[in-house]
Amino acid sequence: MSFIQLSNLTKYFSGTANPAVRSLNLSINKGEIITLLGPSGCGKTTTLRMIAGFEHPSEGSILIDGKEVFSKTHSLPPEKRGIGMVFQDYALFPHMTIEKNVMFGLNKWSTREKKKRAKEVLELVGLEEYGKRYPTELSGGQQQRIALARALAPKPNVVLMDEPFSNLDAGLREKMRFDVTNILRKANTTAIIVTHDQKDAFAVSDQVVVMKDGVIQQIAAPKEMYRCPKNCFVAQFVGKTNLLDGIMDEDLKHIHTHIGKVTLPEQWKDKLDSVKLSIRPEGCQLAEQGQYCGEVERVTYGGEYQELYVRLHNEPSLSKEPMLIYAPIEQDVEVGTIVSFDIKPELIALVE
Ligand SMILES: Nc1ncnc2c1ncn2[C@@H]1O[C@H](COP(=O)(O)OP(=O)(O)OP(=O)(O)O)[C@@H](O)[C@H]1O
Ligand SMILES: [Mg+2]
Repeated sequence: MSFIQLSNLTKYFSGTANPAVRSLNLSINKGEIITLLGPSGCGKTTTLRMIAGFEHPSEGSILIDGKEVFSKTHSLPPEKRGIGMVFQDYALFPHMTIEKNVMFGLNKWSTREKKKRAKEVLELVGLEEYGKRYPTELSGGQQQRIALARALAPKPNVVLMDEPFSNLDAGLREKMRFDVTNILRKANTTAIIVTHDQKDAFAVSDQVVVMKDGVIQQIAAPKEMYRCPKNCFVAQFVGKTNLLDGIMDEDLKHIHTHIGKVTLPEQWKDKLDSVKLSIRPEGCQLAEQGQYCGEVERVTYGGEYQELYVRLHNEPSLSKEPMLIYAPIEQDVEVGTIVSFDIKPELIALVE
């Protein structure tokens, strides 16, 4: 049985026609790290707050560790749900030392036990030397690790983190993704992390839940979600892609599109007439005598690679978007260069 079960979770805010979260179903196993990923306003924070008990769902139920914490007839208060929360701004108490901050949620413990636990969690986050300092005497990344230590101190069933990386600069953000995942894994904690950043989500989670307008679009492991996005929204939200309309060939293996015939990774089960394809730019590889040929319309430098926007020769109209393909940085290409490329079937997906 899953450790956390959200069933049909729905939230209407008064005065709004559409629900902020609509019939959300989600199962999470013990020790799993999942992220809720989606654009601003899609209902991520509302979902997290309903799990924490800060927001009352309009419908549905929440089960944590076999215990019903919310249903139609029953609602456990936040402090009884066994949840550790890390807020976006960390919410450390500025007038308390780090040690006191970390011990804050342990008021029922003896002083000796509290001190022992504070030492343990400070060690876990690698800041055992900092107990006597105050929050303002720490860097952003250190403050965040303290906020996580404080959330973990009472040994919660689940840790909830809302946009944990958004206050950090790019370099630190990357390090903290790694540190936070390590700490959560070492503590063997189940965690739900909210982010609108695909890189955060992919770097830290076992499962990614993509949401749009309060509705789950897809639940999948990062790699599967990238390679097999379910619909156009997911395909575009998790990375860049080329979306093409097409007609399926009788052989159920090829799609006829405006750039020509495209081969699917495997034969499709049923005949579909009109389909949509998502082709990842890294699935298009420059080749001496590639199947597709066109003129580079725009080049941008992505750092590790160059983004080429290629207008295909056999294209019937200029109304279509040029194909985006990635080229190695050492390749000499400029606007006007004629390139040819092949498409790797593994990075092609049929989408809704
Ligand atoms: N207290 C509230 N009263 C009315 N509407 C609300 C309230 N809180 C949130 N909403 C609305 O619910 C929707 C979902 O909001 P939510 O905060 O869950 O989004 P989010 O995915 O966390 O977005 P962001 O990435 O910007 O934090 C939004 O349309 C928002 O305006
Ligand atoms: Mg939010």
